[in-house]
Amino acid sequence: MPEAALHVGSGKVRELYALDDDRLLLVASDRISTFDVVLPTEIPDKGRVLTGLSGFWFARTREICANHLLSLRPDGRSTECRRLEMLPIECVVRGYLSGSGWKDYNATGAVCGHTLPAGLTESAELAEPIFTPATKATTGHDENIDDERAAELVGKSLYDEVAGVSIALYRFAAEDARARGIIIADTKFEFGLDEENRLVLGDEALTPDSSRFWPADDYRPGGAQPSFDKQYARDYCETLGWDKTEPGPELPADVVAGTRARYVEAFERLTEIAFDDYLANPSVVLA
Ligand SMILES: Nc1ncnc2c1ncn2[C@@H]1O[C@H](COP(=O)(O)OP(=O)(O)OP(=O)(O)O)[C@@H](O)[C@H]1O
Ligand SMILES: [Mg+2]
Repeated sequence: MPEAALHVGSGKVRELYALDDDRLLLVASDRISTFDVVLPTEIPDKGRVLTGLSGFWFARTREICANHLLSLRPDGRSTECRRLEMLPIECVVRGYLSGSGWKDYNATGAVCGHTLPAGLTESAELAEPIFTPATKATTGHDENIDDERAAELVGKSLYDEVAGVSIALYRFAAEDARARGIIIADTKFEFGLDEENRLVLGDEALTPDSSRFWPADDYRPGGAQPSFDKQYARDYCETLGWDKTEPGPELPADVVAGTRARYVEAFERLTEIAFDDYLANPSVVLA
């Protein structure tokens, strides 16, 4: 564990330590949550995949938005970062209709106040990516909110800025990933403000935990998509008839191995870096 660092919090996946007043250490565990419930079974190296992919994207998107990354530690799962005042909204961008976006569209024809054309099918690509913010629920599920509510939470001008930056980040990454055979169907960003009140991208970015990654070759709109990411573990959980409340089910060894392989494959496809090279020297993703 980090030397002389004060443990300041635990998320579902990350442990947070204060290195000093201005810097945090974010340590990504191998915990996996599905439907917002942490499962009792870990996915080996998952935290390293998330840390490496986030670092990869942080290094490539600096021109679009400043981010909190300072350095990656040799363990491959610990990120030294700037401590931010996090905004109270989750900044979701959707390029495709899936998950809660699909559910909301089915019920109302709209997602977070964006009215969409009639007759779209599940997993359909949207004409333009849409910004669909959610509240950060302290317990349980995040709740989709419309523009007006989100603007109330952070202020109108900051809201417009995060919406614009989120869409720009998504467009950049989605295009990059598409060229490597991965569709980023949707993704969630978390932003904060630095000591000078500048907008800074924090948390993790464009990982299989914060996004839906679909193999482009198998993309067939009109139903749910097979995916690289934790949808695999989610799908397994769905077969159990589990009520999606604590405690979550154990994952069998084949689901653990299959999920790990998908996380590692997503890493390698997106970064074009062998995962073993990352393990040997995490900084390779920042070059
Ligand atoms: N630079 C930063 N400064 C301060 N807090 C940050 C920073 N980057 C990320 N965080 C916060 O650290 C936590 C990361 O932990 P993790 O991803 O495990 O949480 P989570 O399960 O997604 O959410 P929760 O914390 O609500 O359980 C989040 O609460 C996130 O908002
Ligand atoms: Mg998180």
